[in-house]
Amino acid sequence: MEDSLEYRNDSEFARYLAHVPQPFTRSDAEEFVRVNMAEPFDRSATFAVVLDGKVIGSINLEIDEATRTAMLGYGISRSYWNLGLTTEAAEAVLEWGFGTLNLTLIWASTSLGNLRSQRVLQKLGMTPQPWTKEPKFAVTNEEWLTLHLRVSAQPKLRGEA
Ligand SMILES: CC(C)(COP(=O)(O)OP(=O)(O)OC[C@H]1O[C@@H](n2cnc3c(N)ncnc32)[C@H](O)[C@@H]1OP(=O)(O)O)[C@@H](O)C(=O)NCCC(=O)NCCS
Repeated sequence: MEDSLEYRNDSEFARYLAHVPQPFTRSDAEEFVRVNMAEPFDRSATFAVVLDGKVIGSINLEIDEATRTAMLGYGISRSYWNLGLTTEAAEAVLEWGFGTLNLTLIWASTSLGNLRSQRVLQKLGMTPQPWTKEPKFAVTNEEWLTLHLRVSAQPKLRGEA
């Protein structure tokens, strides 16, 4: 709770996040933690981003069970911006969403001015979609597999044990 209070009480962090009030009070932090712990994980999965034992951000998937799609959201403390941490953490969550949950598509929308967020979505391999109010990006399960295809078993050389 203390960690969330620290990084979310920042008007620059909340600049494009209408749902994060400023100032972000202790009671807002308590509510943030309470809601994230109480929400059903199979519909609203929130992961803490932890560095050296400190919560510095969160990544979440809002899952639409009917379509097997999910909306991705993320936020990380300003002290750690531009280190690639959000992209790394979101990649792990997308791998979980596609690999374990077998979702068909994961999408995200962001504000026009939030260029940093748009760059994260590009780095995740998401592509711009048609949008009305806000830029929207998405990646399908097939696209994710293609992007992350790895040769897991090399053919053994003749004579190798
Ligand atoms: C958006 C946010 C999550 C990005 O986190 P991050 O950990 O800094 O992201 P990464 O380091 O993985 O990637 C940031 C990329 O944006 C680039 N970038 C930084 N400032 C930029 C700018 N003004 N214009 C364009 N790109 C910019 C960085 O160079 C980096 O790209 P690169 O790796 O090609 O150099 C973070 O800024 C944040 O928490 N913002 C507040 C909450 C928020 O807006 N969440 C998104 C809601 S949709």
